[in-house]
Amino acid sequence: MATPVMDKSQSEPGAGGTATDTPYITATFRIRRFNPEVSDEATWEDFRIEIDPKERVLDALHKIKWEIDGTLTFRRSCAHGICGSDAMRINGRNRLACKTLIKDINPEKPITVEPIKGLTVLKDLVVDMEPFFQAYRDVMPFLITKGNEPTRERLQSPEDRERFDDTTKCILCAACTSACPVFWNDGQYFGPAAIVNAHRFIFDSRDEGGEQRLEVLNDREGVWRCRTVFNCTEACPRGIEITKAIQEVKRALITRRY
Ligand code: SF4
Ligand code: FES
Repeated sequence: MATPVMDKSQSEPGAGGTATDTPYITATFRIRRFNPEVSDEATWEDFRIEIDPKERVLDALHKIKWEIDGTLTFRRSCAHGICGSDAMRINGRNRLACKTLIKDINPEKPITVEPIKGLTVLKDLVVDMEPFFQAYRDVMPFLITKGNEPTRERLQSPEDRERFDDTTKCILCAACTSACPVFWNDGQYFGPAAIVNAHRFIFDSRDEGGEQRLEVLNDREGVWRCRTVFNCTEACPRGIEITKAIQEVKRALITRRY
């Protein structure tokens, strides 16, 4: 595949610098391309660009899309690690493009960028997230109560809040689920993200739907499929201790205490 190259004279200086004082480097981004309207096969395409290494991979993708090839397709929204829409495999590891600095991923060598695994690729770096969100919906990620509406807010002690604090941080990026070999082999497995979001409510003292959620996760495609590989915990850009949360859900299923 041809190698599009953009020289420095075409590039804009990064914020806070000028074209002459910014320490630009030439980096090669090797991107997995797939367009079902053109070919059934995915291919790698190299783009060489001049860029400040303190910029993020998302900035490089923007530069390529806006200045070299407008057909390059990827998701992003917030650009600040909040929306979870730009998880992708960068140098073979699941990361958020908006939270990955180019200088931290060895830009002397070609930087590979490909879609997350285990979900159908729709185009370039965009995958079909529907199976992921279906598993999320299946665990009922909302507060369930059984009548007895309180006349004031539902109180909770700091200690009770602490029990599920870690799993509230999930941004549904799918980096964990798409890093899980069980999910790769069997797309029916609920996956770590759904279990994390079930955990968030099962261990919430205000919630009364724990039994329902545990039954959902007791399914043959539920928590027992987890092989404690730790890929999920390593992949999570929010630093959530996912394997620990999965273990806590397993224990709750055995003891029925949560
Ligand atoms: S648990 Fe972490 S990796 Fe998994 S979806 Fe949530 S934020 Fe992303
Ligand atoms: S664009 Fe929102 S998390 Fe990266």
